Amino acid sequence: LIAGPCSVVMFGVTGDLARKKLLPAIYDLHNRGLLPPAFGLVGFGRREWSHDDFAEYMRESVEEYARTPFNEHAFEQLRGGLRFVTGAFDDTEAFEELTRVVSELDESRGTGGNHAFYLSIPPSAFPQVAEQLAQSGLNTPSENSWRRVVIEKPFGHDLESARELNDIVEKVFKPEEIFRIDHYLGKETVQNLLAFRFANQMFEPVWNSRYVDHVQITMAEDIGIGTRAGYYDGIGTARDVIQNHLLQLLALTAMEEPITFDAAELRNEKEKVLSAIELPENLAEGTARGQYVGGWQGGEQVNGYLEEDGISPDSTTETFAAIKLMVNTRRWAGVPFYLRAGKRLGRRVTEIAIVYKQVPFLPFRDTDTVDLGQNAVVIRVQPDEGVTMRFGSKVPGTQMEVRDVNMDFAYGSTFTEESPEAYERLILDVLRGAPPLFPRQKEVELSWQILDPILEFWDEHMPPAPYRSGTWGPQTAHDMMARDGRTWRRP
Ligand code: BG6
Repeated sequence: LIAGPCSVVMFGVTGDLARKKLLPAIYDLHNRGLLPPAFGLVGFGRREWSHDDFAEYMRESVEEYARTPFNEHAFEQLRGGLRFVTGAFDDTEAFEELTRVVSELDESRGTGGNHAFYLSIPPSAFPQVAEQLAQSGLNTPSENSWRRVVIEKPFGHDLESARELNDIVEKVFKPEEIFRIDHYLGKETVQNLLAFRFANQMFEPVWNSRYVDHVQITMAEDIGIGTRAGYYDGIGTARDVIQNHLLQLLALTAMEEPITFDAAELRNEKEKVLSAIELPENLAEGTARGQYVGGWQGGEQVNGYLEEDGISPDSTTETFAAIKLMVNTRRWAGVPFYLRAGKRLGRRVTEIAIVYKQVPFLPFRDTDTVDLGQNAVVIRVQPDEGVTMRFGSKVPGTQMEVRDVNMDFAYGSTFTEESPEAYERLILDVLRGAPPLFPRQKEVELSWQILDPILEFWDEHMPPAPYRSGTWGPQTAHDMMARDGRTWRRP
């Protein structure tokens, strides 16, 4: 299903996200034949750029970061619809110019009055842009056309600020015109959770508290904060990735089967899970918080967080967070969901592990050798995308010896189709007007409702504990699991 005629106006086009992900994704969509010839892309920013300068910038970003090979002919086609408007976010004249440019694209490229405004900008700039879009009338579609707005996280830094931000955006756009990006939902392996759970008969019967001991959701990164000090400091892991990515993964793992995959049905089911979440009574025991110190990673010596460029030496921002949550529903009562995320951990891996209870009885003899862990189904989100099942098996030989084995499904060796980048899928869905993969405001608010008490507690009582770069987080995270008689999986 390709997108219809339209143009995208991108704010924050010179930022990292646009350069590394958004512009290459637009090019890849075009290169795969998923954008119509009637397509335009307008960059908006303070640089004194001509349309050609913008095209050159786009070419460089595409050559470096696009998934599909660079194709001169394809790029030239796209280039015909590239425009740039110079201005600040509160510059009324620049928005008048923007209005002229998008109508010129309607004329010259046939984009049909359909425009998506992509706000790849800090939330502090939302009010100005929203106001200018309203004032210039750019938010109002003419008959038979559409307007949409795409917003990037952070959607606030707590419940209150999330509501304020939303009020600003909803003054200018209708709820169904707003697309909130959580790029994890654009990942193939995350969407596959829906297929895995609901297209099969064999997993759903054992997907509940009767069989499942606990669930571990891990998002580990080996990188540090790199050049993102300005964004990251004062934000930290919980706000950066737990509020959005990890809670979305939890919701998809724990939710009931939606009647259809329509946006409303899917969001309803996710919201039910988020509303059923209960925090640990004792936050000092049920959460852990860490900050990396220098160490060795991938054979390289790396700096600690406090030595990174742009970080104040007494920063108490966490770069690791672990949280235990309960989901109070009939299906999950009593099954802890352990979430952990962090930078500068052992390696880059995101996975969801459903860990099963031990069998109630083992019919083996004293002379048998039984060395069994717990059965597990592991959804490998990335890298090395796939699913692993872990179960006990007889070791070949004349005795009864049982040991854990893994059975793997790997995207790489199963499918010849390449997985599109998360952003390709999400941008295409915006242009097609398909909202299921975009969380709605209620989900954002529920997520903050879960995090706010933890963040407050941390702020007052729990400074981050140090952990060495390249390890699996602070000792407190291991202690948190040990208190429950469990251990973190080593992915
Ligand atoms: C972003 C976070 O949302 O996700 C980053 O802001 C993080 O801190 C990134 O590095 C990880 O994304 P991915 O797709 O590489 O797992």
